[in-house]
Amino acid sequence: MTEVLAENGKPRAVKAAADDLVEVRMTVNGTPAVLSLPARVTLADALRDHLGLTGTHVGCEHGVCGMCTVLVDGEAARACLLFAVQLDGADIVTVEGLGRPDDLHPLQEAFGRNHALQCGFCTPGFLMSSYDLLSNQPEVTEEELPAELSGVICRCTGYRNILTAVRETKSAHPGGIPAPGNCAHRALVGRATGQAGVSTDGREVTEETGDTRRIDIVLPDGDPTIAVDVGTEIGVPVDAVWRVFDDVSLLARCLPGAELTEDLGEDQYAGRARVSVGPIKLAFKGVAHVVEHDRAGQRLRVLAQGQDTGGAQTQADIVLRTEATATGTVMRAEAKVYLTGRIAQFGRALAGDVSRRMFEQFADALRETATSGQAPTGPVAAPSALKLLFAPLFDRIRTALRRKSR
Ligand code: FES
Ligand code: FES
Repeated sequence: MTEVLAENGKPRAVKAAADDLVEVRMTVNGTPAVLSLPARVTLADALRDHLGLTGTHVGCEHGVCGMCTVLVDGEAARACLLFAVQLDGADIVTVEGLGRPDDLHPLQEAFGRNHALQCGFCTPGFLMSSYDLLSNQPEVTEEELPAELSGVICRCTGYRNILTAVRETKSAHPGGIPAPGNCAHRALVGRATGQAGVSTDGREVTEETGDTRRIDIVLPDGDPTIAVDVGTEIGVPVDAVWRVFDDVSLLARCLPGAELTEDLGEDQYAGRARVSVGPIKLAFKGVAHVVEHDRAGQRLRVLAQGQDTGGAQTQADIVLRTEATATGTVMRAEAKVYLTGRIAQFGRALAGDVSRRMFEQFADALRETATSGQAPTGPVAAPSALKLLFAPLFDRIRTALRRKSR
């Protein structure tokens, strides 16, 4: 039996086995989130694996090291010791909510200025713990600081610089430290359709109809991880291209590695996509929303959001344009792609190559479909980044062999 809060604030008893899905609503860094989670999932795992907030680190998972400290309703709490289902209605602030990269919280600035971190693993825990201390106990004395901060363990720094940073922040803000500075509504890239609904702009994820899978896709602030602007000539008339654009199931069949699984209504579609990045295979589940379908203006705009089981997340804003030419159609694609999680580690160049190769494959499949009026025979394979990675090497070997044989 798990107790969660009902909307009137009173505990609502929920009978759930460890793996039963329970709906949890919480506000995370100012953004309402609705998650559907197995009852056994801890707050730390919900934040990291379901909301992509990996700033909350997990060390001992036994409440000892303090690495996972976050604020729950304004008080420091160990995220590894709380089940997410206990926190229905709670207000959570993680280290991501404390400050922005371009506008750090004074505590973050002081940690940086005083070299209060080495490997940085304990730093989110120390920052959130220090914030809790200075905001809830501003009268704390210098002598009391070591004991008050002893709930977080650091194996690198020897603590002195951490204490200096916290002391400095306290002295610089005698009237109380500023509130967390990055708690506005923004996109949280959550688990894909059917697993969790995540409000991406502060509105409810679930529709009035009770459909839990439709979501509002709001792109993150800032520059995309990859920006792609590519064009190609397709040797078929523009009307034939738009006959494919008009039929989303046909269009989806042309997307490399993609599969449309459900029409969610109102131009939203659930789907799956597979991308292979070197030895890593990513299988995204997500939602695509056709936000603009302007045949007269020859412009199709799609927002997409997905997440794979390993925590890689992506959001994309894709605009396809067509233009009739003497020989057929020029199709252009402008895409802004936002990546987080392990996929982001492969770098912009490689991810950009994968995106461009996917566009070429999409254009080929579109040409085939527009010409025949039939979906491509067999799925369009997703490109392998490993092949792209070694493509320049293979080219060089081929050139060398050609030279040798002359
Ligand atoms: S991971 Fe939570 S206290 Fe160590
Ligand atoms: S800086 Fe490495 S554990 Fe604290």
